[in-house]
Amino acid sequence: MKHILVVGNGLAGMTAAIRAAELGCNVTVVSKSEPARSQSVMAGGGINAALNTKGENDSVLSHAEDTIKAGVYLADEKAVEEMTSSAPSLVEGLAKRGVVFDRDGDGNIDLRNFGGQKKKRTAYAKSGIGKQLVSGLSSELRRKEAEGRVVSRISLRFVSPVMHEGRCIGAVFQKDDGSFEAIKADAVIAASGGMGGIFDRHTGSALSDGSVTASLFVKGAEAANLEMIQYHPTTIETPAKNILVTEAARGEGGRLFTMRDGKRWYFMEEWYPEGKNLMPRDIVSRSIHKVCMDGFGLDGKYQVGLELETLPKDTVYKKLMEVSELSKKYLGIDAGKEPIPVVPAIHYFMGGLYVDRFHRTTLKGVYAAGECACQYHGANRLGGNSTLGAIYGGRVAAETAVKECESVSLDVFERAAEIEVSNIIDKLSLHREINREVNAVKKLKRLMTDTMSIIRFEEGLKAGLEELAGFSPRDVYAPKNSSADALHFENKLILARAVILSALERRESRGSHARSDYPDMSDEFRKTTVACCKNGEVSIRFDSIGREFA
Ligand code: FUM
Repeated sequence: MKHILVVGNGLAGMTAAIRAAELGCNVTVVSKSEPARSQSVMAGGGINAALNTKGENDSVLSHAEDTIKAGVYLADEKAVEEMTSSAPSLVEGLAKRGVVFDRDGDGNIDLRNFGGQKKKRTAYAKSGIGKQLVSGLSSELRRKEAEGRVVSRISLRFVSPVMHEGRCIGAVFQKDDGSFEAIKADAVIAASGGMGGIFDRHTGSALSDGSVTASLFVKGAEAANLEMIQYHPTTIETPAKNILVTEAARGEGGRLFTMRDGKRWYFMEEWYPEGKNLMPRDIVSRSIHKVCMDGFGLDGKYQVGLELETLPKDTVYKKLMEVSELSKKYLGIDAGKEPIPVVPAIHYFMGGLYVDRFHRTTLKGVYAAGECACQYHGANRLGGNSTLGAIYGGRVAAETAVKECESVSLDVFERAAEIEVSNIIDKLSLHREINREVNAVKKLKRLMTDTMSIIRFEEGLKAGLEELAGFSPRDVYAPKNSSADALHFENKLILARAVILSALERRESRGSHARSDYPDMSDEFRKTTVACCKNGEVSIRFDSIGREFA
């Protein structure tokens, strides 16, 4: 029987595991912690599907068009069309399996407006869509565990893939006590989330730290569109991190403003009379940035106001319960009475492991889905498409992996795993000799956030590369029980370099990638940026969109 190893237990990972089990495989799902702590739980907005229950003549084609347009024509259109076509049955299927969505007066799954979409097509749950989806899929996963098809392992940290003759045949993990365990697999599905671990001030979970992506990248999996980093326009700044204020707040009528000549200036409504506050996220974030850089930040700070207090109280306290609770908790502000100060912050990585529409990576034996994979979102993602992309992508990745994978012999695996573990131990010994820089991780994150800011330019990117070159891979010490951090740091430095180089080479402005020195979009760059790592050296090339890997 085939054995599939899934790394990550958020929406993409759980869906992949469930689907592979349904297809008759044995599955091991490995993660650092329980699904309830995954990044997916934080999804507050919804999941998009053209259910067309609002009399707006919505269609899967219109969903695809909005996705492709918001992604500024960088997404694989065929892949997007396949995803949007599957969305209605996928959402209805989730509801049948027990996921609780809010319903309208007719008992239909209710739909709300989200940015960059002309129709109401975001299914949601007031109590938090992420929690509902994770809880529904966790129950399903437990059923598969009870049937003996799935084994879930937690407290294991991915260290590196086990390779044999160019093919991945499993992976090495580190346990809490510092020891290593190698798990054999006929195919590995990476579902490990975004690259938040190389940036600070983002809305993501600390668990989605990019270490799996970095490790696979260094071992030869190519990465795509790494420069495409989404800034969410509305977050609350707290000392530790940025807290998402869902786009649903604007979908329900919330208005962005700042003060000018003593009056509220609704700049989005003035600049974009058609889409107003619900323009795609890249445009809204850049507009807020401009307002603040031009000296109009609210109260003289880098922030604008989100006006909800003029909405019906039921909308603020019930439909937007999460928002009003967060604003009370973190700012002490009653959103029904006064505006919430908000700032743009890093929220999502459209780029990641380079996958084709079947979710193959370029590393044989490895498939990827969810935020760690570059698929569906092009240069800018629509709100409500990440949950959809994760669940749909997890399913496709599992189907492809199960169809293509071949059995790995135990002998071959044991020999390859022994070599990999011994390499890991050798490398780690170097991290015990010195401890040059205690704040290296923090400094890397700051450098990356500054360099990959909302507006980029050649000098800034080059300065970032130069500063990055000053880090030593050995900057992070390796205490015995969490030594994987030290190896991850080495890999993350290489991935960070690939991110900056991708931004440097894309000499145009498109979606979330805005260059002050190349302010226009160029047809020449309607291509996928591909980063490749060989022996620690990073190179960048541009591929035509929609390549398939055999
Ligand atoms: O604004 C939001 O609720 C975020 C949703 C998303 O990123 O899909």
